[in-house]
Amino acid sequence: MKVTVSRKAHFNAAHRLYIENWSDKENTKVFGKCSNPNYHGHNYELIVSLTGEIDPVTGMVIDLKDLKDIIKKYIEDPLDHKNLNLDVEYFKSVMPSAENICIYIWEILRKQIDLDKKLEVVLFETPRNFVKFSG
Ligand code: NI
Repeated sequence: MKVTVSRKAHFNAAHRLYIENWSDKENTKVFGKCSNPNYHGHNYELIVSLTGEIDPVTGMVIDLKDLKDIIKKYIEDPLDHKNLNLDVEYFKSVMPSAENICIYIWEILRKQIDLDKKLEVVLFETPRNFVKFSG
């Protein structure tokens, strides 16, 4: 029987959404406040879900302590209190939109979690705006 287990996580980060050769006016029209030239922060909330068979010995899909440690090491520590545009190599060529941050997180976690488990990442950029990626 397959069960989904989830872990919530959190990081604060700054970003700016803009197209380099557009004017500030054009960027504001498309990206709104997220194109503020001096960057701005978000309180990102994350829900990482794994779906898999329950281990008959442990009774668990995954030890949530292990998942907590993976998220801390590979997502929270590298992203928390960072400027995504300037500090994270990946976003020097990829727009740091919620959609792309969600995919970035999924791709990193996918390498750390057994492939017999389905991985889904939900990323909240604001309490009301969130995106979901599951590969
Ligand atoms: Ni923003």
